[in-house]
Amino acid sequence: MSFPYSPTQAYPPPQAQQPTPVAIPSGSQRPRLTFLGTGYLGATYAICFAELGYEVIGFDVDEPKIAKLAAGNLPLHEPGLGELLRRNLAAGRLRFSTDYREVAEFGDVHFICVGTPQRYDGLGADLSQVETCVTSLVPHLTRKALLVGKSTVPVGTADWVEQLVGKFAPADLGIEVAWSPEFLQEGFAVEDVLRPNRLVLGLKSAWAHSMLFAAHKGVFDLAVNEDREVPVVVTDFATAELTKVAANAFLATKISFINAMAEVCEASGADVTQLSRAIGYDDRIGKKFLRAGIGFGGACLPKDIRAFQDRAQEIGAGEALRFLHEVDLINQRRRARVVQLAAELLGRTYGPAGPDLSGLRVTVLGATFKPNTDDTRDSPAVSVARKLVRTGAQVVVYDPQGRENAVRELPDAEHADTMVDAVKDADLVCVLTEWEEFRYADPTELGKLVKGKRVIDGRNCLDQPLWTAAGWEFRGMGRPNP
Ligand code: UGA
Repeated sequence: MSFPYSPTQAYPPPQAQQPTPVAIPSGSQRPRLTFLGTGYLGATYAICFAELGYEVIGFDVDEPKIAKLAAGNLPLHEPGLGELLRRNLAAGRLRFSTDYREVAEFGDVHFICVGTPQRYDGLGADLSQVETCVTSLVPHLTRKALLVGKSTVPVGTADWVEQLVGKFAPADLGIEVAWSPEFLQEGFAVEDVLRPNRLVLGLKSAWAHSMLFAAHKGVFDLAVNEDREVPVVVTDFATAELTKVAANAFLATKISFINAMAEVCEASGADVTQLSRAIGYDDRIGKKFLRAGIGFGGACLPKDIRAFQDRAQEIGAGEALRFLHEVDLINQRRRARVVQLAAELLGRTYGPAGPDLSGLRVTVLGATFKPNTDDTRDSPAVSVARKLVRTGAQVVVYDPQGRENAVRELPDAEHADTMVDAVKDADLVCVLTEWEEFRYADPTELGKLVKGKRVIDGRNCLDQPLWTAAGWEFRGMGRPNP
């Protein structure tokens, strides 16, 4: 790094250590912000930064999505975000656009928030959306601006974006690039953006540092008002990019670790829920992300650990991440385990092609990859439901928020509107997402509706003694049979 910086410190730092303020290129008091890509990440950031007082444009190539957002309707389910959207649209701080020219004209800091899904032909990340967004935006820039990557990307991407900027931006504007990965969790996204547990700023110049400081001043001011500090790590591009994938790889490893312990518990008669509590009391280990069940899913952890391995291979460090392959395999095995348990509970044999559950009605409670979202991308619940459909069983799915996505992902299943409708006449109930509605359901009442009182608790979220007392045959993940 060629400028004075403080590697890690709690922000806002004392006045004397703050980056020197710079003139904002558009001439406004605070930088005007744009967020390119209004998926989970970009929509949440655009709305929350408007809430912090910034003037913001959210951009997407998806016209229906932009029309929906501009009309005050969220295209996704995220607690608290809809109200903030409507409030900031009404306040005039937030706009949405499908026009790169308008975005280029407006913004001082452009955040790249587009998707980086798994490539269809391999394990690596598909960077085509990053490329399109950069090469479509920068030719329209007319003054100095900062491009900040937020998307999860393979190490080396920020340097490549810098090269694209050099090639496609008008010469002599001095457009700069920075990388600042995000760590928001679906279901807690508003809180994670307004009150981040850390900020990571990968940058190369004092100007970029000053602009990023100005672009996050709202976050720091809120922290000061609430007597909190926001830890900030200022670093180089590669470290910033790697921080994100390393964090997700660690979380995935922690989940697969406890799920591996679940397998050992199943073989030895131990109870993984108690084992998890017992080891979690050691604060070097910690209780979080030690919930055994049907494993991790979503649009991030599964594809990120694969893209990380792929990139490590490319740069000659493949050996170092071999364990992530194992993490993936453990995760996949947990999904298959539910089908084994189903066959066992229903008294059907498990042949080479899996069990034949034809003639039986199986209720799947939960389709989203975790509660408090409508997201079913790489959802373990959907994957298990699909496997159950393949057994020939009549599968009925109910999810409190994810119905629309579940219908699309599981065309061969039935879809119920309520939990009560879903469990009617079931031979087996599988709880695959730990929604509160399921956790606190009354097993006695549900027991009156089903044909056979058999339940698989795929998330270890039910009160097992209560269910067994109500006469249910119960199977958990990594737990002895009651
Ligand atoms: C994850 C990370 O937690 C965020 O920090 C990161 O910013 C985000 O990915 C991203 O890369 O954008 P998210 O995908 O919202 O966030 O979901 P998590 O809360 O991490 O849960 C992932 C999966 O792990 C879920 O399917 C969840 O049910 C499962 N899980 C989680 C377990 O099976 N056991 C646990 O103990 C915890």
